[in-house]
Amino acid sequence: MKTQVAIIGGGPSGLLLSQLLHTRGISSVVLERKTKQYVLSRIRAGVLEQGLVGLMEEAGCAARLHAEGIEHDGTLISYGDEMFRVDFIEHTGKPVMVYGQTEVTRDLYDAREKVGGQIEFNVEDVVIQGADTEAPKVRYTVDGQAREIDCDFVAGCDGFHGVSRQAIPLEVRREYEKVYPFGWLGILSDTPPVNNELIYANSPRGFALCSMRNEKLSRYYIQCSSSDRPEDWTDAAFWQELKRRIPDEQANKLVTGPSIEKSIAPLRSFVTEPMRWGRLFLCGDAAHIVPPTGAKGLNTAASDVHYLYNGLRDFYENNSTNGIDSYSEKALARVWKAERFSWWFSSLMHSYPDQTPFDLKMQVAEIEFLRTNKAAQQAMAENYVGLPY
Ligand code: FAD
Ligand code: DHB
Repeated sequence: MKTQVAIIGGGPSGLLLSQLLHTRGISSVVLERKTKQYVLSRIRAGVLEQGLVGLMEEAGCAARLHAEGIEHDGTLISYGDEMFRVDFIEHTGKPVMVYGQTEVTRDLYDAREKVGGQIEFNVEDVVIQGADTEAPKVRYTVDGQAREIDCDFVAGCDGFHGVSRQAIPLEVRREYEKVYPFGWLGILSDTPPVNNELIYANSPRGFALCSMRNEKLSRYYIQCSSSDRPEDWTDAAFWQELKRRIPDEQANKLVTGPSIEKSIAPLRSFVTEPMRWGRLFLCGDAAHIVPPTGAKGLNTAASDVHYLYNGLRDFYENNSTNGIDSYSEKALARVWKAERFSWWFSSLMHSYPDQTPFDLKMQVAEIEFLRTNKAAQQAMAENYVGLPY
């Protein structure tokens, strides 16, 4: 098989890149290790920056997002029984959009299928060859049968556990990592959200987040131990713990119900450099991970797609390598800012096992500063709604 861009990974990065390239007549094939049902069953991010909304529009996939997504003009931050709001519109003029990653992915699959986009599911043993030549190849198997794609470029959109990053030689690759000593236990429930805006809660018992997917579907998270498993937590224990971490006023009006999904995500900061090696480009979680506080994971994947898509367009439409040559540098400049924000917001909101009384006082002082200082709120709002591409 022959294509212009071989895309490894059928998550949001791979699908968005494939659909954007299609709008410019650039061909691609997406290789996905799992089934479509499996990819769509993973509950992940829920807050989209305007940059990602804009890319979905450019890809011709934003109709449902605009019909069903909910614009949020601010967010609430609580500590103990204190709560304050950071107003995104006042500080940046921009809202964020609440619309689940699952729905973004579904819309992209629908769009790819409508135009006959090539996606291979259940692929195994993916190997990238000749990324440092002008004629790379991707070899893989499906149902035990060997297949091969000849291409101009390879986009590694295969997430943190994918093979693309490993294809970059160790002597070229530099990795930076911080693992946090806790996880997030998340549940999805068919209940109305406790509040019409998100609540990020710092409490002596640990962090909690009240989020949503729509006015009938809630998404809640609590900080948990790294060694916990979802089956250790009954729904009743989850709700009880959540109520103890949010202000009484919210806890008293929280509507509980059976969980329809329950999972634990570890928290990690990770960046690999460079994000390009020869004709292989890494995009999204394949190159970097942020802790979820601040909802930057999916949005940072989207900014990578923006830079790569424009670089590839420049190559095919203007015969210029400027865009692809500067891809890694441009993408990483924005990635590191998202890493900083996610690390800062995580540090502000979680309980750390080795936190001293001094550390705790510093955390409270910083939250107090954010509550009372417009410049601090402005900095937070600018990062939350998304820094410019
Ligand atoms: P992925 O979504 O990981 O997609 C990669 C795809 O590649 C997958 O479909 C995978 O099956 C496929 N793949 C892997 N290896 C191979 C291979 N060898 N061959 C072919 N295909 C392969 N972000 C937020 O902003 N907010 C959140 O609340 C949030 N929660 C998260 C919870 C969890 C458990 C995880 C793991 C991530 C979460 N994130 C969150 C991060 C966000 O979901 C990711 O940043 C986003 O999914 C990145 O998209 P991606 O397409 O780059 O990678
Ligand atoms: C969600 C996840 C986040 O990490 C976040 O900061 C906000 C919302 C969510 O899944 O809804």
